This record gives sequence, C-alpha cells and structure tokens, in this order.
Amino acid sequence: MSMDISDIKKKAAEYAVQFIESGMIVGLGHGSTAIFAVRRLADLLQNKERTDILAVPCSLHVEEEARRLGIPLTTLDEHSHIDLTIDGADEVTEKLEVIKGGGGALLREKMVAQASRREIIVVDHTKLTPVLGTNWPVPIEVIPFGWRFQVRYLESLGAHPILRRDMRGNKFTTDQGNYILDCYFGPIQEPDKIAIMLSERAGIVEHGLFLGLATDVVIASEKGVRHIKAGTTVLPEK
Ligand code: A5P
Repeated sequence: MSMDISDIKKKAAEYAVQFIESGMIVGLGHGSTAIFAVRRLADLLQNKERTDILAVPCSLHVEEEARRLGIPLTTLDEHSHIDLTIDGADEVTEKLEVIKGGGGALLREKMVAQASRREIIVVDHTKLTPVLGTNWPVPIEVIPFGWRFQVRYLESLGAHPILRRDMRGNKFTTDQGNYILDCYFGPIQEPDKIAIMLSERAGIVEHGLFLGLATDVVIASEKGVRHIKAGTTVLPEK
C-alpha cells in the first residue's frame, strides 16, 4: 500500500527527533512537516523519555501549538544558543542549500537557524532538487512601505515576483506585519550572489535562501530515510 505524503513528512520529522537529548534548547520549525517533530517531542516529554527541554518556536502558530501540547518555551532573548532545530523546507539540494518560507515564517526561521548549533531540515522526497529555484519561488519578506518598488528591483534581478495573498485574497502578512513576494527565478545557478543582492537592499527584511545554515538534511520517501550531513552522505534505510 502506498504511503500518504503526510506519513512521509512524519517519517522525516520523527527521524530527526531522535537527535534531541534531555537538557537541550530546541528550535521548533514551522510547517506541515516540522509540526510532526513538535508533536513527537511533546509525546517524549509526556512519557518522560526526554526531560529539561526548553523550546524556541519559529512562529506564533507553532508557539500556540507547542503551548497547547505542554512543551516548555523560551525565547531567543533568554537563550541565544540553540542546541538543535528541526525545520521543514520548500526545496533542498544535496549540497544542503535550502529554500524556506513557503509558510511565511522565514525571518524567525532564519534567526533561529543562525542561533542553532545544529539545524536539521526535514523534507519529503519531492523537495529534493539539483538546483534551487527549479520548482519553487524564493519567498522574500518586504516591509509594506514601498513594496511595489521592491517588485521592480526584484524584476531587475531576473525574478518574477508575485505578492502572496491569503485564502480570502487579502495580502498575506507575516508575524511581523510584513508582506511576502514569492519570487520565481527559475534555476538559480549562483544562489550566494542573489542572496547578497537581496540582503543589501533596504526594505527587504529577509529572503528564503538558507545557505550554509543546514547541518543536516533528512529526506524521507516511501523507501526510507536518507540523511545527508554537512561534509558526508549517509544512506540508512529506516
Ligand atoms: C515555513 O515558513 C517554511 O519555511 C516551511 O518550513 C516550508 O514551507 C515547508 O513547509 P511544509 O513542511 O509544510 O512543506
């Protein structure tokens, strides 16, 4: 019987949870894959299989869910060093390059990733790509002031930006009250160069290119789990 995509996401997330140890400060990622890690961690805490965990959520939504599940929370202000974060992604390469922000939480996700000693990205097999930008846009968070001006700048970089809207057709706003421009670049041969041009632009708060931040990528499929670590490739079937 074939596995549902959500079972595959769950498999990736739960594989990563095994690396959470008692006493750790843990980053909780946002999205339909990372939420399985949050739920699994809550179970482990409830069964006392892990103790003394404090968690930093990457979004208001995850904060609410973690609170509901009884996971003790902290903040980046209180703990600047996170031992391990488990988060999802929109696209990953075998070189551990990542596009994030499909759920709109990229700013907090990147702050948490930068504070994390270990950043484990958990995805289903459809997210693996040879080159970033092949299947997904790069989400770019911009302040509302002058957002159309940013559209023109992004077009000059070769992107086709689309303002993200919510289910009702209203402008989507992030936890910080900003807008998201989903930027279709097509395959991005030199993501580092694009990342610099995005970071240098006033009014662009953050972009979804996560380069040099993932220490591990866990890719689940029906066949098993593939775990790629920075520097090495391990292929356990689990
Ligand atoms: C949230 O802003 C994103 O970075 C998510 O982690 C990413 O979009 C993956 O989401 P899913 O796990 O829901 O596919």
